[in-house]
Amino acid sequence: MFVHWGLYSLPARHEWVMSFERQSVEDYAAYFGHFDPDLYDPREWARQAKAAGMEYVVLTTKHHEGFCLWDTALTDYKAGNTPAGRDLIAPYVQALREAGLKVGFYHSLIDWHHPDFTIDDIHPLRDAPNVEELNKGRDMAVYRQYLHGQVRELMSNYGTIDYLFFDFSYRAGPMAVRYPGKGSDDWDSENLLTMIRRLQPGIIINDRLDMPGDFVTPEQYQPSGAMMGGGKEVPWEACQTLNGSWGYDRDNMDYKSVDLLLRMLIDGVAKGGNLLLNVGPTARGEIDPRGSAALAGMGEWMRTHARSIRGAGSSSLVPPSDCRYTRRGNRLYLHLFAWPLKVVHLPGLAGKVDYAQLLNDASEIRMEKLDPSQAARNTQPGGQPAGTLTLKLPVQRPKVAVPVIELFLNGTNTDESGL
Ligand code: GLC
Repeated sequence: MFVHWGLYSLPARHEWVMSFERQSVEDYAAYFGHFDPDLYDPREWARQAKAAGMEYVVLTTKHHEGFCLWDTALTDYKAGNTPAGRDLIAPYVQALREAGLKVGFYHSLIDWHHPDFTIDDIHPLRDAPNVEELNKGRDMAVYRQYLHGQVRELMSNYGTIDYLFFDFSYRAGPMAVRYPGKGSDDWDSENLLTMIRRLQPGIIINDRLDMPGDFVTPEQYQPSGAMMGGGKEVPWEACQTLNGSWGYDRDNMDYKSVDLLLRMLIDGVAKGGNLLLNVGPTARGEIDPRGSAALAGMGEWMRTHARSIRGAGSSSLVPPSDCRYTRRGNRLYLHLFAWPLKVVHLPGLAGKVDYAQLLNDASEIRMEKLDPSQAARNTQPGGQPAGTLTLKLPVQRPKVAVPVIELFLNGTNTDESGL
């Protein structure tokens, strides 16, 4: 579960509000003065994440606005100096550990509050008449030190951190047209990575430092297959929103249905990837009812279907139409996005499956092999290509968001290449 929470939760109209509305640091001070998350209860976040089937949570320690949720020694622009009056990261880390969830931090490389962060094409002050002038007084070397110092705090003061999501580099492209963008030189990514890996040897780090990371992060789209890097498959995790915004966005009604979210999760795992699904808690600190409903809906399905997702990955087999395969050891999971009439044909699987059952209730699914030469008749399905396994389905679709059939491959076929 991804969590975007910060001062932007107050205006509640997208986490980029400061940039979109070209707000100055002074304009934005109103939110700092009113940040009072009286209902913040990270144990409740952890409970909802866990019930949704999540295994780790990634919270914004600082977003592009520059506001820090932890008790940093390097700025006054932190939760402790708002009505919140305390470090909000420490209880979060503790709540996750108690719940048996892994601990993740998101950290923005970009900082629209820091006086040394130079004004560029996405900065709130980009349309000021005297940008060049303003930039003369700004020194990225000073900001770089601040960035490294803050990351050092986060990597030193909260015990083991499992996951780090940096955001983001834009050296070239549409965000670097009028003014230079920013990349690895600005962040000194190489030394930043070295420091982190020394302090947290087991951590995994994403790919947005303008240098390769441990995994890649497609954002707000579903990759069409395995993701490649340097000529080979790379681990990937799609980050996705509930409604298009990451921060709490009160009037945005573009919510994805639970059915769609589950299909995105399954589709990702079937392509060898993972899903980092975001919620944007309110400024009072709660996951709002729409977010909670989405998590609960996913949890309802995950309660009985987690084993087709957790620890599962892609299969090289081609599934029938409207289906996705995932595989974990000698179990192959057939996810049926649409429910066909009475049978589903699985090419290449004849003789390779010992047993089949519906995952939601462990009820047997009978298997048969249709003779390839058998002509179609009125009362029986016709032949299927040699090697096809046919599963016999009930007419009634099981009452779950996405039905799954668990196929137990026979012992000799635990190796994918054997199929
Ligand atoms: C983007 C956005 C940001 C969001 C992030 C999540 O790069 O700038 O608001 O935090 O993606 O992946």
